[in-house]
Amino acid sequence: MSAKKPAGDGNGRAKSAGGARSTSGSKPARGAANSAGAKPPKAPAGAQPARGVAATGGAKSAKGARSPASTVRSAAAQPARAETTAVPAEIGHAVIGLGLMGRTHLRALEHARATGVPCRLVAVADQDAKRLDGRAPGGGNLQAGREGEPLFDPSVVKTTTDARALLADPSVHSVSICTHTDTHVELALAALAAGKHVLVEKPIALDPRAVKKLADAARKAGRIAMPAMCMRFWPGWSWLKSRVEDGELGALESVVFQRLASPPAWATHFYRDAKRSGGALVDLHIHDADLVQWLFGAPDSVASTGDLDHVTTLYRYQKGPRHVVAEGGWDHASGFPFRMRFVAVFAKGTAEYDAARAEPLHLHRNGITTPVDITNGDGYQGEMRHFLASVLRGETSTSPSMDEAAQVAELLVRERAALGAG
Ligand SMILES: NC(=O)c1ccc[n+]([C@@H]2O[C@H](COP(=O)([O-])OP(=O)(O)OC[C@H]3O[C@@H](n4cnc5c(N)ncnc54)[C@H](O)[C@@H]3O)[C@@H](O)[C@H]2O)c1
Repeated sequence: MSAKKPAGDGNGRAKSAGGARSTSGSKPARGAANSAGAKPPKAPAGAQPARGVAATGGAKSAKGARSPASTVRSAAAQPARAETTAVPAEIGHAVIGLGLMGRTHLRALEHARATGVPCRLVAVADQDAKRLDGRAPGGGNLQAGREGEPLFDPSVVKTTTDARALLADPSVHSVSICTHTDTHVELALAALAAGKHVLVEKPIALDPRAVKKLADAARKAGRIAMPAMCMRFWPGWSWLKSRVEDGELGALESVVFQRLASPPAWATHFYRDAKRSGGALVDLHIHDADLVQWLFGAPDSVASTGDLDHVTTLYRYQKGPRHVVAEGGWDHASGFPFRMRFVAVFAKGTAEYDAARAEPLHLHRNGITTPVDITNGDGYQGEMRHFLASVLRGETSTSPSMDEAAQVAELLVRERAALGAG
């Protein structure tokens, strides 16, 4: 691993967003402030909440809508507190895989540091040496950095093409694994064996057994292995979780999720190979399948139609909402704008989220439509802060947990079977 200087303050700095409220699900890690007022990073595209995710600052508060802070507090994962582990004064974080999501994690880490979380980027790895110069590559997706835009300072951040070398580095306390899906488990197991906490991009793996193996390894290692389920932290989506839990709008009767896109235009060798990526059913629709399971638990039955590139699933619950549907597809023509929506019908109002709007979340009640004031920033920032906060509290597990990721992988297997796709 090359280290041109001792790793110092090499993480590019954003302006502090001081004075804002925390959007982390848990208490902010030592002085962590939230992102309100800070310019939100552009969200990456394609598979995920990407194109068209608009800043939400300035939206008027809907009558009865919760404040962002209270929203996220109840929506947040409740960390398991059974065990604790040694806590570094400042987390040395590393990122493996510097493609679209690696760059997104770099930005989320930078944002966490800029808002007071004691952390810094100490090392990066990518098997492609061209990605180690600290600048965003050209071509492909532009939303996680324009060509040539600085990502990190290679004179202070250690760089390597060998992820294992990075894992042997004692200055690395935690690692983001942002490589392609079929490499996640092997790398995460190696990271846990080296004593690191891991934040692993979703999908963890296509095979639920592999995800369970990782969950077991994390338990044995006494380290956090958190799946990067960014939608759990996404402003507006965490609000939905809170309203389901607190019943403020009455019972949820129906919810429909929609996530539609054109095919990913980058890393096509990976995304177009459904044996590696799982197709849109796994890679894209997992966000909504996870939300459904997070909100209501495992469904009693599923009925799916479509194919691996465009699926609609009806989730049936004997005890639960009567109508739960999620549609996910990336078979739309290029140029089709990414669409991420939900419509949730509660007994006392209907909530409607549309990422393409400047004020994405609206609440319709008694003939009146009001935008709901949701936190600025994005789910990647909240996810990273939550992970770092869990490490800083010395926890050995957190939520979302790898066991939950295994349950989602199982749900997707059920949906695939319901499609007749084996
Ligand atoms: N959470 C989200 O919203 C979201 C969005 C997009 C993609 N993803 C997931 O993130 C993962 C990465 O997707 P991407 O679009 O960033 O891919 P990408 O092709 O843009 O980047 C992957 C990078 O990993 C590197 N790499 C691969 N194997 C490696 C190894 N063994 N060691 C070191 N480097 C290695 C590649 O060289 C590449 O630079 C996938 O699992 C994908 O499903 C998640």
